[in-house]
Amino acid sequence: MADDQIDLFAPEDASPLTETIEYDAIPTDGSVPIPPGTYGSLADLTVHCQRCQRCDLAAGRTHVVVSRGSAQAPILVVGEGPGQQEDEQGLPFVGKSGQLLEKILAAVRLDTERDVYICNVVKCRPPGNRAPTIQESTACKGYLMEQIRLVNPKIILLTGATALKGLTGEKKAISKIRGQWMQWQGHWCMAIFHPAYLLRNPSRDRGSPKWLMWQDIQAVRAKLDELS
Ligand code: URA
Repeated sequence: MADDQIDLFAPEDASPLTETIEYDAIPTDGSVPIPPGTYGSLADLTVHCQRCQRCDLAAGRTHVVVSRGSAQAPILVVGEGPGQQEDEQGLPFVGKSGQLLEKILAAVRLDTERDVYICNVVKCRPPGNRAPTIQESTACKGYLMEQIRLVNPKIILLTGATALKGLTGEKKAISKIRGQWMQWQGHWCMAIFHPAYLLRNPSRDRGSPKWLMWQDIQAVRAKLDELS
């Protein structure tokens, strides 16, 4: 293995890796995929994410934002990337979008501590809240794939175009595809509007984004009940 693929995960002040990780096996070049099955646990994945230097976002971060919620959750929610508050707190969806997401989930009795695992396409904050670049999403994709493999949710919710494209490669507009069930690698999967889009479109009129979200989240509740 090339020397440049060995060391970048291990700054001197980092805490020791757990023994279960094949330390040398993790490519530090963001264009080289992280092989499926790399991590034995979400804890191992978190350790590596916290040391990650696979793309330039590492330089600007305060915290790596890996996840919140339950590792046994039947629903996994994928967002775009951390914003300012997420970067400060090290947790996804804790700002205004996150508060709205909590409300939407609670409206159909979904608890973010019990029923949902929340993560993002990229684990470090893109400057100025811009969307992640293809290179950044690609560099981080292995972590997301491993999160999905380890949580093994029944349902995956993709919030917004970045999550939809980042995971499935689908480039259609969210407005065209939201609310439709897809099968993706053995998981039921639905694209939904990003909460930030709903915050910019507050109308609750029939056919509005908020109204459509209400239809979608009820369909998610019904699918979960059907699968449980
Ligand atoms: N928006 C996202 O997509 N993810 C977050 O974690 C916060 C806001």
